[in-house]
Amino acid sequence: MTANPTEPRPFRFYDNRQKYLTFVTTCDEKWQVAERARRELDGLRPQPPAFRLFDAGIGDGTVLANLLRAMHQRFPTIPFFVAGKEISLEDIRLTLDKLPDRLVEHPQTVIALTNLHYNEAPVLWPNTTEKQESLVFRHIELTGTGSHEFGDQLRNLHDFLTENWQVRPSEKTGNPLYVTPTVLVIHRTDQRFALDAVIPRPGEPRAEYDLVIASQPWRSRVEAEFKVKRILAPLSGSLRSHGVLLGIQSMGHDPGLEIIHEIWPDEDPFPVDRHELISALRAELGDEVRDYDLMALPDAQSQLRYSMHTLPTEIGNIIGTSTLFAAWNAAIYVAQIEDERVEKVAISGDYLDATTAVLQRHGGLWFNDETFVVRRH
Ligand SMILES: C[S@@+](CC[C@H](N)C(=O)[O-])C[C@H]1O[C@@H](n2cnc3c(N)ncnc32)[C@H](O)[C@@H]1O
Repeated sequence: MTANPTEPRPFRFYDNRQKYLTFVTTCDEKWQVAERARRELDGLRPQPPAFRLFDAGIGDGTVLANLLRAMHQRFPTIPFFVAGKEISLEDIRLTLDKLPDRLVEHPQTVIALTNLHYNEAPVLWPNTTEKQESLVFRHIELTGTGSHEFGDQLRNLHDFLTENWQVRPSEKTGNPLYVTPTVLVIHRTDQRFALDAVIPRPGEPRAEYDLVIASQPWRSRVEAEFKVKRILAPLSGSLRSHGVLLGIQSMGHDPGLEIIHEIWPDEDPFPVDRHELISALRAELGDEVRDYDLMALPDAQSQLRYSMHTLPTEIGNIIGTSTLFAAWNAAIYVAQIEDERVEKVAISGDYLDATTAVLQRHGGLWFNDETFVVRRH
C-alpha cells in the first residue's frame, strides 16, 4: 500500500523542526524539565556496575546534557550507562555536539543512541529476527582525553549517521519510521577496562533502568490508550526495582493557550491529562500493576511552569517583531497546531495582534507542564 498524495498530509513531528529549535532556544522548558528530573535522583538506588538512564526521545539533547551534569554532581564516582532514543538525524547531531564536555567531566560514561521503537529501544534490540539481522550496531571508542578531540571524532560520524539514520513516513500516521535499525555506542577508550560490564553488546538485551525520562514524547491529541500501549507500558517495564519513570506533558491553563484561543476559540490541544493517562496505564498493566506505584501527583507537586526569555523592558506599548514571532512560534508549537492551519491564519496579521494583546495582558509569556511518576517496587 502506498500513501495517497491527494489525502491531507497527517501532522508529522518532522515538519516542526525549525519551530522546535526556536522554541527550545527562546523558552526555558528543557532546562526546567532537567531540573525536575534532578529532583528524582535523591530517591534512586543505583546498583553496580552503573547508574542506568533512558531518555525516551532525546530531542536536541538539552534535557539530557543538563541532567547528566546533575547526575555527575549527585553520583560523581558511579559509572553511567545512558541510552537514548531519537529518530531525527538532526537531533542526533545536536546531541553529539553536547557530549564531549560530559565525557571529560564524567569519564566513566557509556552512551548508546538508537533509532529503535519504544518497545525495542530500552534493550537496544529489535523485536523481529529480520530486523535483528539487519541491525547496525556501531561501537565508537574515543581516543584522547579532551573535549576538543572528542568533538572532532564525534563530528566524523557524519557519513555514518546520514546513511543509518534515514527515515520513511509511516503510511498510517505519517510519523517517521527508521529505515535501518541502528545503535551507536560511544565511550572513551581509556575507560574500556573499567566499563567492560557496562558496555552493551548486540543480542544481550538488558533494560533495568534507574531513571526513565519521557519528556513530551507524543502528539498531545492522541488518545490515552495509544500513548500507554506504545510508550508508557513498555517504558514502565524497563525500570529496575526502585527505578522511576518521569513523564512530562503540556497542560495549558496559561497565556500560551490564551494566544491560541484568540485565533481558534474552541481549540482543545491537551485533551488527555495525567490522571487519564495513569488510569489507562493501570488498566493496561493488569495484574502487574501491583509491582508499581502510579503517581499522578497533587497539582502543586506535578505542575511546572516555564517562560519565554524576555528582557525587562521588552514588553511595553510596542513589542518588537522578533519577540512576537518567538511568542507566536512557542504558542503554536506547544499546542501542536498543524502547519496547514497556521499557514491560513498567517495571511492576515491577526495573529500578531492576538499575541501582542496576550503578552501585554500578562507582561510576558509562560506555559504549564504537568508531570507524573511511575515507580517500580
Ligand atoms: C522528540 S520529541 C521531544 C524531545 C525531548 N524529549 C524534549 O523534551 O525536547 C519532540 C516532539 O515533542 C513535542 N514537544 C516537544 N516539546 C513540547 C512542548 N513543550 N509542548 C508540546 N509538545 C512538545 C513536539 O511535537 C515535538 O515534535
